[in-house]
Amino acid sequence: MVLGTAQIGQEYGIHNLSGKPSEETAYQILDYAWCHGVRTLDTAGAYGDAENLIGKYQETTGHFFHIGTKLIADTADGMVKELEKSCGRLRCSRIWLCYLHRFGACKEKGVLQELERWKAGGKVQNIGISVYEPEELEYIVQNLYDSVDAVQVPFHLLDHVRWLKGGLLQRAKEKGIQIFARSVYLQGLFLQSADSETARRLLAGEALSELGRAAGECGMDIRQLAVSFVFWQPEIDEFLLGCETLGQLAQNLALEKEAGRQRLPDGVLQQVWDISKKVNDIVIDPRTWDGRR
Ligand SMILES: NC(=O)c1ccc[n+]([C@@H]2O[C@H](COP(=O)([O-])OP(=O)(O)OC[C@H]3O[C@@H](n4cnc5c(N)ncnc54)[C@H](OP(=O)(O)O)[C@@H]3O)[C@@H](O)[C@H]2O)c1
Repeated sequence: MVLGTAQIGQEYGIHNLSGKPSEETAYQILDYAWCHGVRTLDTAGAYGDAENLIGKYQETTGHFFHIGTKLIADTADGMVKELEKSCGRLRCSRIWLCYLHRFGACKEKGVLQELERWKAGGKVQNIGISVYEPEELEYIVQNLYDSVDAVQVPFHLLDHVRWLKGGLLQRAKEKGIQIFARSVYLQGLFLQSADSETARRLLAGEALSELGRAAGECGMDIRQLAVSFVFWQPEIDEFLLGCETLGQLAQNLALEKEAGRQRLPDGVLQQVWDISKKVNDIVIDPRTWDGRR
């Protein structure tokens, strides 16, 4: 499991009850993760204090994670400035995985070339692109596979059909691109009750009820179903999970361990497939949740 850090650097999520964790809690989360074998963090310059907290934690403890961070700029000059800032906040001289936060940047003149220069010079070890749409990944698979080492895609119980269609993820893997899955709990929406105000607003109530029933039929809750689902997906190399409390992190690590013990029965996978095919586009795109798109 990769620990997502959007939640520790800022107030984040569809159902955030606890707000942004205190600095002390954030350190405890990072420390608990390290002590329980998590070695990879996902962060971004855009995640509030997250990079800074990680940098301070690493400096004081000497525990150095593999860090994937993201640059939001879409010009080569802008990226140079951002990379310097990220390295400063993270207190490190090189980045393990440097993502373009916005897919569109990869089409801008000089941007990928700048990343490639950094990689050749050892400033970044791997180049990644964060995507939202299968068409974006298709573009990478067809045109940028020589430069791109990793992609981050939203992939979960309600959003997988379109990524598997035409063997898209498989083809990406065959081109040597690592697949990181995010939004395993869809920002926490899967943990909402089907009749909550949020579920109703996003027209997600029916899907949540059906997923709960499918999980129950194989003796799981929806959390375990969500984690086991990505854990066993052959195309997924790593999955990300964010948390706001130590309790959530502990639970997520336990769910990951449990996932390794039991494959999901084919009948449940079929049910999940059927449920996800009925779901509307709003539910699976958090960018639309507050009317931004
Ligand atoms: N590349 C991108 O554009 C992009 C976009 C989004 C996220 N990300 C990355 O992905 C990471 C994960 O974010 P996500 O949006 O995908 O969220 P997620 O991992 O699907 O869900 C995390 C949320 O679920 C709830 N939660 C976590 N563990 C729980 C547990 N054991 N029990 C109950 N609730 C629990 C918490 O929300 P509440 O407690 O508030 O309910 C938490 O904030 C982020 O930290 C970030 O690193 C990247």
